[in-house]
Amino acid sequence: PIPVYSTIAPLRSLRRQTTLSGQTIGLVPTMGALHTGHLSLILHAAHHNRTLVVSIFVNPAQFAPHEDLAIYPRTLESDLQQLHNLNAQLDLQDPTGTVLGRIAGVFHPEPSILYPRGIPLDPMKQRGAFVSVEPLSKKLEGVSRPHFFRGVATVCSKLFNIIQPDAAYFGQKDVQQTIVLKTLVADLHFPVRIVVCPTARDQTDGLALSSRNVYLGKTRRAYAGCLYQALEAGRRVYEDGLERGGVEAKEILSAAMMVLRVFVEEGMLEVEYLSLAESGELEEFEPEEKVNRERGEGAVMSGAVRML
Ligand code: PAJ
Repeated sequence: PIPVYSTIAPLRSLRRQTTLSGQTIGLVPTMGALHTGHLSLILHAAHHNRTLVVSIFVNPAQFAPHEDLAIYPRTLESDLQQLHNLNAQLDLQDPTGTVLGRIAGVFHPEPSILYPRGIPLDPMKQRGAFVSVEPLSKKLEGVSRPHFFRGVATVCSKLFNIIQPDAAYFGQKDVQQTIVLKTLVADLHFPVRIVVCPTARDQTDGLALSSRNVYLGKTRRAYAGCLYQALEAGRRVYEDGLERGGVEAKEILSAAMMVLRVFVEEGMLEVEYLSLAESGELEEFEPEEKVNRERGEGAVMSGAVRML
């Protein structure tokens, strides 16, 4: 079985040993309830590091008082089983003969280890050191979740300092999170490379896999794929427009909105935001701005809908 560490000292010694043997450590931070999306990040990390650490920690600091901290799915036994199976798979070499890394440890601390001063859910009552990345963390997801990225940046800073990975792997599904973390490591000079991996999606309707999809229930799950359909509709308008030297940002966004409109009119969902932004600081495109190859490549279209 893979060792599960709940304290910091054994990870420090894993880091020392790994450095001495000239190897790198890849870190995959998670909140558990592992699914194929998480496993794809680990597999990606295994192609680039001989030693992997997976953290499983439901981080209280990124939940608002009214959010789902208490009911967030916690499935440690099945998570460990999945990681164990993945290690067995990694032992069988890649067909190309590449040696793959292995999960050398799972970091699963109690909140009191990462937050020695305690972590009340009310941000006004929190004590100690926190990290914020501005103004990025006020945009998009940050509008409805004002303390979310502060929690993410803080816990990732702690994980980076404890595990001292060479690289850390994150999913593009949470694109704003990846941009916040790239800014964090650049500005605070963390010697950690942030690697962004593709989104794993449901094979039938394209909904991104997520631990929270269990909240949807059958009825809402049946049409939740519309967010992906909307993003794809926007992408098609962009791609079709390239031959004509680009299309206006608002045309891309309204194609996406068109897909969602039927559901909005039926009272099935609300659109929190649909955004088309450049990828450095998520600076929004002007509605009339031409999105051509030069401006469009690497741009980020993202959205959030509230399922009613
Ligand atoms: P969590 O939601 O558990 O996700 C852990 C990592 O898996 C994140 O980098 C996320 O983007 C990635 N991931 C989730 N679903 C994915 C999918 N369908 N395809 C590809 N990658 C996917 O994100 C967090 O936890 C937390 O904010 C964390 C970074 C661990 C800090 O607490």
